[in-house]
Amino acid sequence: MVNDFALDALTLSGLPNPMPTVTVTRRVHFNAAHRLHNPALNDEENRRIFGLCNNPNYHGHNYELEVSVEGEVDPITGYVADLGKVKQLVEEHVLAQLDHKNLNLDVPRFRDLNPTTENLVVVIWELLDGHLPGRLKKLVLWETPRNCVEYTGG
Ligand code: NI
Repeated sequence: MVNDFALDALTLSGLPNPMPTVTVTRRVHFNAAHRLHNPALNDEENRRIFGLCNNPNYHGHNYELEVSVEGEVDPITGYVADLGKVKQLVEEHVLAQLDHKNLNLDVPRFRDLNPTTENLVVVIWELLDGHLPGRLKKLVLWETPRNCVEYTGG
């Protein structure tokens, strides 16, 4: 026995037009090592500004990245984007380049760019934008459980 509500859902009648725009988010994890250092500054200034993060022998972080995609709800699937597919694309375009890497030494983009969380989130945006189903709306990058940065491509 199919009630009226279920029948409506099956026949797709009564759906809003246009469909609502919703933001969906996938969280992924990666770890990486880095050293914060600006060669334009002397060693003392680097130590004062970057503290422990200026350690010459690098240090690691467990990063958490939240990827938010915006789009209209698909009337057939009820999804904005398949989050399994989003995860797969983030792995392909971002984690393959950054996970278990030394950002300063292994990632060409950081050869002349200080790998702060701010710079890292912008680089991740460059890697991801245009490769996801829906519109990349926001990235939130957690460097520690207490510190995060947000970027919306501006
Ligand atoms: Ni650090």
